[in-house]
Amino acid sequence: MTTELKQLLQSYTEQVDAQLEKIIPKNSGPGAELFAAMRYSVFNGGKRMRPALCFAAAEAVSASDSNTTRVAAAVEMIHAYSLIHDDLPAMDDDDLRRGVPTCHIQFNEATAILAGDALQSLAFKQLSELDLPASVSLQLVALLSDLAGCNGMVTGQAIDLASTGKQLSAEELTHMHNHKTGALIEASVLMGAMATNQALDEQLEALIKYSRAIGLAFQIQDDILDVESSTEQLGKSQGSDSDKNKPTYTSILGIETARSEAERLYQQSLEALSAFGDRAQSLRALAQFIVHRTF
Ligand code: IPE
Ligand code: IPE
Ligand code: MG
Ligand code: MG
Ligand code: MG
Repeated sequence: MTTELKQLLQSYTEQVDAQLEKIIPKNSGPGAELFAAMRYSVFNGGKRMRPALCFAAAEAVSASDSNTTRVAAAVEMIHAYSLIHDDLPAMDDDDLRRGVPTCHIQFNEATAILAGDALQSLAFKQLSELDLPASVSLQLVALLSDLAGCNGMVTGQAIDLASTGKQLSAEELTHMHNHKTGALIEASVLMGAMATNQALDEQLEALIKYSRAIGLAFQIQDDILDVESSTEQLGKSQGSDSDKNKPTYTSILGIETARSEAERLYQQSLEALSAFGDRAQSLRALAQFIVHRTF
């Protein structure tokens, strides 16, 4: 990672973390255990890629502001909830996340389920507190509901579970990845742009192309890292996919094809940004990181 990108990510992370700190309840009172589990799963590291995409997309169309920070907090809470549930015994049954025990190991299964539930509803509350015309806020609510739910991430996760132990075609695999991971990445980029209330239709079209390319590339790289990286570097159990017989880009298409597909998508994402000029430099740097990251 370049020093420039590191600084950029750090500044985005500081902004979104300050907001998350403010809105997630403190560990006290009768709900303390739940609040502790929510905080544990949000503030245990994480690359904050989705918030970064919100900020960078806002900057590509105009500038980031407090609305960007709120939509960034919303998508990160959806992401944190998705990881808590993804790790549960009924799903991927993983014990390690971001270098520490997964939420259900640290607390218990019921608390982990509830922490995910509460993070999801808090995400939508953020969208009710945007300083934007109500019609724009409602568009954001609709977009996130679609892409995090049954037109996106949750359906992708359902397909993932139903496909475990099965062979998928390349098309089926891409469909699954676009849903389980691509959809929330698309939401992050579009919400960052839309929350400026200044994005032109043609800019949103271009950002859809960009985000679909890097969204798929993100999960392809995740599959590659599951094979090539180490538990220490990933902070999650390396080899988890093959242990569970998950259909992945590497298991179905092989590591070299997976790598060249990620590279092709990276180039495609850059092409989508051509009309933005210098304003999209952060989006370009994030795309570069997404396909070349080692953790
Ligand atoms: C992991 O996402 C889950 C996928 C969708 C592949 P990240 O790699 O963004 O996880 P954190 O937030 O950095 O831990
Ligand atoms: C996760 O995919 C997608 C989600 C929606 C959380 P994975 O199951 O591959 O993510 P990791 O590898 O556990 O982070
Ligand atoms: Mg999974
Ligand atoms: Mg998993
Ligand atoms: Mg994975």
